[in-house]
Amino acid sequence: MNNFQFFNPTRIVFGEGQIKQIDSLVPESARVLVLYGGESARKHGTIDEVLSALGSRHVEQFGGIEANPGYSTLMRAVEQIRSNKLDYLLAVGGGSVIDGTKFVAAAVNCDGNAWQEILVNGAKNIKSALPFASVLTLPATGSEMNTNSVITRYETKEKLAFSSDLVFPQFSVLDPTKTYTLPPRQLANGVVDAFTHVMEQYITYPVNAKVQDRFAEGLLQTLIEIGPELLAKPSDYSLQANFMWTATLALNGLIGAGVPQDWATHMIGHEITALHGLDHAQTLAIVLPGILQEQRDSKHKKLLQYAERVWQITEGDEASRIDQAIEQTRLFFEQMGVKTRLSDYRITADAIPAMIQQLGDHGLNQLGEHGDVDLEKSRRVLEACV
Ligand code: NZQ
Ligand code: ZN
Repeated sequence: MNNFQFFNPTRIVFGEGQIKQIDSLVPESARVLVLYGGESARKHGTIDEVLSALGSRHVEQFGGIEANPGYSTLMRAVEQIRSNKLDYLLAVGGGSVIDGTKFVAAAVNCDGNAWQEILVNGAKNIKSALPFASVLTLPATGSEMNTNSVITRYETKEKLAFSSDLVFPQFSVLDPTKTYTLPPRQLANGVVDAFTHVMEQYITYPVNAKVQDRFAEGLLQTLIEIGPELLAKPSDYSLQANFMWTATLALNGLIGAGVPQDWATHMIGHEITALHGLDHAQTLAIVLPGILQEQRDSKHKKLLQYAERVWQITEGDEASRIDQAIEQTRLFFEQMGVKTRLSDYRITADAIPAMIQQLGDHGLNQLGEHGDVDLEKSRRVLEACV
């Protein structure tokens, strides 16, 4: 029964020491490209473990994928794959390496300009993709168990996303011990990102989805409970295991199935990263409280539910309970060490028109669960975030 993994519907291989499973999960004849980021995976021995698990297969490597993976860098990986006839990709890293690998997997068989075809025209143009798997070293994005990818084109300061069923990982190894080396900034980023993923799918309007709501609330409460402990004890297996599983479930499609979704915070945040280079989670910590305030009328019922069930806020009138819940959200991000104001990152109000311009250029003028976050609303949100 050692092929039990193939019947694992999550395609997640979880636990300490599981990298060795790669040997039984990657086809024997695969010509593999291992993709990674900067120093971390090599320095901490994860690459060596992966290479050892791949055994005698033909294996090449491609390092240097940036945090916020860059289009030009990834196209060099595409060239290597085409030249050397590689046919299986293995991402070792965080969301950036996994997202980058998804793009590479799709771009290899793309005839035209891959940026235009995949990111601008949309994933409908993707007809095939190379098979790939991942070894996760940073819980945050959920990329290890979803079909999304976000790519940056540094030359034009653009950051765009695509999603395709063809880039769902064959499997992902989640070994919590691989996260022990994460610096506080990345741990905090991961908690804030996962938290915001849940909020984007939860704080909309009620559709009587009791399971999705309670699942979302459980994930939020888990992050609130373990977030500060993780900063204090990054080498605690149980904490990291809970964190890893929470971040994966926060964006693997489960809590978002059958419910309205927002994503305005993410879309506005991507423009801040594209123009100013902030970490993804830093942008979310800035924008989410602003979106919740701006949209408090249309999100009224869910904000009250969030206040009561997640933060146990029951005192005061409805407006005050919502204010308290938004404030608790901001305080939680700050407690994690992620600043929540544009000015904390030396960005002033005069930078806002360029962000609005970019949103408009990318057609992001009907955001949110009702499509009512137009450019004017986005501008108000950003002005409130200074
Ligand atoms: O480059 P190295 O040296 O490997 O260092 C990385 C990187 O600098 C470091 N790191 C990763 N694992 C480590 C480690 N350092 C020590 N020990 C480890 N075990 O962490 C830094 C950040 O890594 P990155 O992969 O960029 O972080 P994250 O996982 O937060 O990914 C962010 C990217 O994902 C996108 C974001 O926009 C951003 O581009 N997103 C992807 C999503 C998706 N696919 O569904 C959804 C998200 O909302 C998000 O947009
Ligand atoms: Zn995110």
